[in-house]
Formats: sequence, structure tokens, C-alpha cells
Amino acid sequence: MNLKDLYIDFFVKHGHKQIPSAPVVPENDPSVLFNTAGMQPLIPYLMGQSHPYGTRLCDYQKCIRTNDLDSVGDTTHHTFFEMLGNWSLGDYFKDESIEWSFEFLTKKLNIPVDRLAVTVFAGNDIIPFDEVSYNKWLSLGISEDRITKTVEDNFWIAGETGPCGGDTEIFYFRSDDEIPKKFDPNDDRWVEIWNNVFMEFYKDEKGNVSELPKKNVDTGMGVERTTAILEGVNDNYLSSIWKDIVDLIASIANVKYEDNKKSIRIIADHLRTAVFISADYACIKPSNTDQGYILRRLIRRAIRHAFKLNIDVNSDWEQKIAKLIINKYKVYYKELVDNENVVYEVLKNEKTKFSRTLEKGIKEFEKIITNLDGNILNKDLAFKLYDTYGFPIELTCELANEKNIVVDVEGFKEKFKKHQELSRTASQGKFKGGLAGNSEIETKYHTATHLLNAALKKVVGPNVHQMGSNITSERMRFDFSCDHKLSEEEKSKAEQLVNEWINESLDVTVTEMKKEDAIASGAECMFIEKYPDLVTVYTIGDVSKELCGGPHVKNTKEIGKFKIIKEEASSAGVRRIKAIIE
Ligand code: ALA
Repeated sequence: MNLKDLYIDFFVKHGHKQIPSAPVVPENDPSVLFNTAGMQPLIPYLMGQSHPYGTRLCDYQKCIRTNDLDSVGDTTHHTFFEMLGNWSLGDYFKDESIEWSFEFLTKKLNIPVDRLAVTVFAGNDIIPFDEVSYNKWLSLGISEDRITKTVEDNFWIAGETGPCGGDTEIFYFRSDDEIPKKFDPNDDRWVEIWNNVFMEFYKDEKGNVSELPKKNVDTGMGVERTTAILEGVNDNYLSSIWKDIVDLIASIANVKYEDNKKSIRIIADHLRTAVFISADYACIKPSNTDQGYILRRLIRRAIRHAFKLNIDVNSDWEQKIAKLIINKYKVYYKELVDNENVVYEVLKNEKTKFSRTLEKGIKEFEKIITNLDGNILNKDLAFKLYDTYGFPIELTCELANEKNIVVDVEGFKEKFKKHQELSRTASQGKFKGGLAGNSEIETKYHTATHLLNAALKKVVGPNVHQMGSNITSERMRFDFSCDHKLSEEEKSKAEQLVNEWINESLDVTVTEMKKEDAIASGAECMFIEKYPDLVTVYTIGDVSKELCGGPHVKNTKEIGKFKIIKEEASSAGVRRIKAIIE
């Protein structure tokens, strides 16, 4: 069994329910572009909402972190990784959590106790010293020398606000050197492999900390790092997770990995992440904003490094690599099967767009730097590389950096913004949110669409996203992401919920706000890029909040009786509901 299977098997045996990995694009959490930790999709449950699977959960979660994108190319940084997690939602706490971590590491993964060390929370004015964890580790056979108390590193929160708490981190001695008697968390031969957070608090925007309704446990273990450790390799890319991908890239380029590590690692890492982003049911496509921009950057950077390795970028090299990645992961992630062709298409289209200008752009770049007076590449030249040759600014910076040249990034950003505003004004005239025809009945259907969207999220799960809708005066059609045929029960519950909300006579209100504020307020939105800077947000009671051009009824009681008449497949991973108002 591999690490993921061993982990899930172990925690399921300890009474946990396995929950599916959430999409890489978080639902209803506009504070981040991607899920960066296993706990992110669980935030509402850590804050007290009851989870349909119970109080003991475990999973492997796809995570994407792009803040360290420039570090990719070394032995350990990856933009995509899988995080193993087990959670207690007001169920067990420190004792069991630590005991099971210890048992899993020493009995299932057979790690010698002597290679392990831990940190525990030393205490501050909010949380006292974590004596329970300290004593627990001692009782399990971790010596005093191997337990370090710290404050800074033992408090965990995802970003600035949200559920948080003190934690205990588990380290592994990853070196052939003699293991020092005393553990020093700053000695980088000790690498952190698991973090057990005891989430008892909530931190708000003002920095106030309050107690959560329940005491939870949130743990996280990185699959890539732990696999490399278990397999005894110091370069993650030599572990079984990467080895065949790296070998394939080397063989396509007809080079040796040892001589071209950086470019090969970047191609491997970026294409794997691009595969997972483009296979996600959120249907992200390369673009110039948000997730789409990250996807574009990843693909273009991978292409640039392929070009550097003299790979014929117009051949199907990227598809071969993507295919291998999909085959490796498809037993775990169904979207890779459903969207295999979408992935190939996204990669190919982006490659076609970029490869046409890449070579010319690189020549232009070489020309620019030979004529450069000093070592600063100015904003106009950076903008030209972006606008004419499709070089994301980060790519220009990377190229410049290789030649010890600095790019005026701030200047570029200003110029970029001005350019965007101009093109936005031009396109705004064309943009029309909402409906083509606005008859009274169509307006009712329109509001019913928002209610159905909200109901499906409640009944089927928060992963449901609107994928499309179409309204005539006879019926509404609503497409949404969902991996299964709805059961009779799900259908009737959704229908019932919509009718309940209609009967509750909820007010429908509209506010105009900046797009980023709308997203930050948690408003639903289907295709963020399609909206202008100033948007209208429609709120229905406390049931639904969506970016939308309207129009809508003023109160849900105007809608009438809502009835689902059909539920069917629309395309891979997308279901379609037809409904009428009587
Ligand atoms: N949420 C914790 C982490 O990501 C477990 O480290």
C-alpha cells in the first residue's frame, strides 16, 4: 500500500469517515485563489456547522500554493501537493490525536522513534503552555531532549483570520549523519512531516480571538515530503511520486536529469499543477486574471523551460507528460478521467498561443538586453514583452534574473493597469449581465435559479457550482457541477427547500459594489472574469448572494410554486435540471 492508502485505512479503522478531496478552487471562500491546506474546505465545520459525515473525518486533499512559485526547481518546493489530514470536530482531542499520529508513524510507517522529535506550544497570554501534549509525547517514549517548546511556530492559522489554535509539530531526522541527542527545530536536517493543530479559537479581522463552539483537531501531512523521506531520497523528484515523470521529460528532451535538474523539475511540477487546475470541475481556463492567470503562468513557464531543453515545443510533448500524470493519479481523482481531454485541450491551446511568439520574444529579449544601458529593464520593454509576445511579467523577471538584470515590475504593473482600464471601458459596452428577454415570468425564473443554486449546495454539497443556465418563458434549465445522478430524495429535498424559501417571503435586495469587495463578501459568481469592475450583487434573505446582472423579483413570494421536472447528465461532471414555475 502507498502512503495515501495506508493513511486512510488507518484512520478509517479508528472510526473516521473518508471525505472526498474538495476541488482545488475553494467554494465560497474568496480569500484564496486555491485551497492551500486540507482544512480549508472544512472551515465552516471547524466553526461549528455539523458535517454530514460526522465528527471524525480523514482525507487526502489537493492543495496549491503559488506564493513560492519561484522556488520551484529546488529539491522540495512544489506548487501542487497532496495533504493527508484527519479531523475531530468536537470529538477526540489532544490525547487520541497524538497517540494515533505516533502509532501511524512508528507502527504503520515503521519509523524508528529515535528519528522523531516534536515541538509543543510554549504558552502565551491567550493559550497556556500545552502540558497535555508535552506529557503525552513523553509517555509515548519521546525523550525530553526531543521535545521543544516554542510559541511562534506552534500557533497555526490559515492566513490572517479564521479557526486557529496551538499545535504540535512532528519532525523526522532526514540525514545520514549521527542523530543529535538534542532536537533543534532550526537544524534543517530535521524536517517537519506532520502538524497537529488543536483548533479552539477563531480570529476575526480586528485580531480579536474568541473560543470556537467546539474543540477540534486539524492535522496535515504532506504526501510528497513524507514519501521522499520513507523512500530515503533527499531530492523529492527522485521519489516514486516524480521519478517516472522526470525520466519521461529527460527522455523527450534527450538529456540527463542530473545535468538539467532545474528545468526538468519546473516542467514536471508546473505541468502536474496545470493538469489538476484544468481538470478541476471549476473549469478554469488560462487567462489574465486570478486562477486563470496562475494556470497561464505555469503552462508558459513550463513551455519556456521545454524550449530551453531544446524540446520541440510544437510536438505533443506536453500531452505525453500530462497523460502520464493523469494515469498516475486517476484512481484517486475522478475529474482526471472525466476531463482528460479538457486537460489536453487546455495545454495544447495555450501552447499554440504561446509558442508562436515565444521564440521571437526570446530573440527580442536578447536584443533588449544587449542594447540595455545599465541593468534595469524598463516598464515599456517589459510591457512590450507582455503585450506583443505574451510573456507573463514573472517570466520576464526570470529571464532577466538569469542575466542579473532587474525589471521595473512596479512600473510595469502601473502600465498594465492603465491598459486594462482602457480595454475594460471598451468592452464594457459589450458586456451585458442578466437576461436577454426580461418578461415577468423570466424574471421569476431568474430568481428561482439563484434559489435552486443555493438549495443544491445545501442538499448535494458545497461543491456544487453553477455551470450554466438558460431561461425561456416556459421553463428554466440549470447546469451544475456534480459527479452523480441526483437521487429521488436529493431532487425532492432541493425542490422542497426552494419552495420553503419562496413561502418564507424573503426579500431580494440588490447592491452595487466593487468586484473584489463582492467576492470578499462571499458572493457566488460563475465566471469572475466576465464581470466588470463594478458589479451588482443580489441577496435573497440569508439564503443566497450572487454576482448577477438581474433583473429579479422583489420578494420570493412572487415566484409561485417551483417544480423540478427533469434531472439528467449534461456533460462530464455536469448535471442538468429542468424546472418550471406553476
Ligand atoms: N492546517 C494545518 C497545516 O496545514 C494542519 O499545517
